[in-house]
Amino acid sequence: MKLLDGKLISDQIKAEIASEVKENFLGKNLNAPHIAAVLVGDDASSQSYVAGKEKACRDVGFISSIYRYPAHTSTEKLLEVIDFLNIDPEIDGFIVQLPLPAHIHEQKIIERIDPLKDIDGFHPMNLGKMMLGLPCYIPATPLGIITLLDRYNIETEGKNCVVLGRSHIVGTPISILLSRKSKRGNATVTLCHSYTSDIASITRQADILIVAMGKQGFVTADMVKKNAVVVDVGIHRIPSEETKSGFRIKGDVDFENVSKKCSFITPVPGGVGLMTVVSLLQNGLKSAKKEIS
Ligand code: GUN
Repeated sequence: MKLLDGKLISDQIKAEIASEVKENFLGKNLNAPHIAAVLVGDDASSQSYVAGKEKACRDVGFISSIYRYPAHTSTEKLLEVIDFLNIDPEIDGFIVQLPLPAHIHEQKIIERIDPLKDIDGFHPMNLGKMMLGLPCYIPATPLGIITLLDRYNIETEGKNCVVLGRSHIVGTPISILLSRKSKRGNATVTLCHSYTSDIASITRQADILIVAMGKQGFVTADMVKKNAVVVDVGIHRIPSEETKSGFRIKGDVDFENVSKKCSFITPVPGGVGLMTVVSLLQNGLKSAKKEIS
């Protein structure tokens, strides 16, 4: 078994981005790329993700801004914030951290973002362009998975890929990317979800198994074909007395046992999560270079 090392690859990509910022922005007297995040409420995971994104921006020389609002913020107020960010010439691209508090109309918010600044790639315009293989922002987690497979030279063409979970953020877009006529595409994709019967009989057929269902330890060794490639998107905080933070991070896959059976596997932490952050930086660079039109 070999690790698909998100730390190693994300550090490599960060170094590449940092040198591009130095040469093509600061070296030419241009402002560094500036990306922003809107954070509503005090969900602990969202706070920690946004802090991670801010640190990554610092690491590569981007400017970053965080717009924080209390949990009781209204949809209308948030729409005003989006309108402001859409026209602010200082900001190249931005994200609205999800999930939003339940009373906020999430889809309305996403649709208000200027697709040219939508570095999360969640706007229907970007998702539609992605479906058609047109230039667009690709959602960060699916992009991170494709990049990880690519950097480890893992062939997808003609392979059986099984995706567990059909979220708008991960499962649905990764299933499209893997089946598209493109490099690290051309796979035969099966998308499983809560109505799928006998999931194990399907996962056992997978050459590449992408697990994004949000159930800790769901995938066990008996569900995985020998020498499969396993990508674990799950991130769960498990209370622990043995760590300083008071919790331990686990994925959707039973790493200890599945890792003995597969050819490649992502660790959690240290796998897909870090690739998501670095993919957002790649999208931020695209926005600053005005590559999407
Ligand atoms: N919540 C979980 N993943 C993501 C992500 O990639 N982007 C945003 N905006 N929110 C998230």
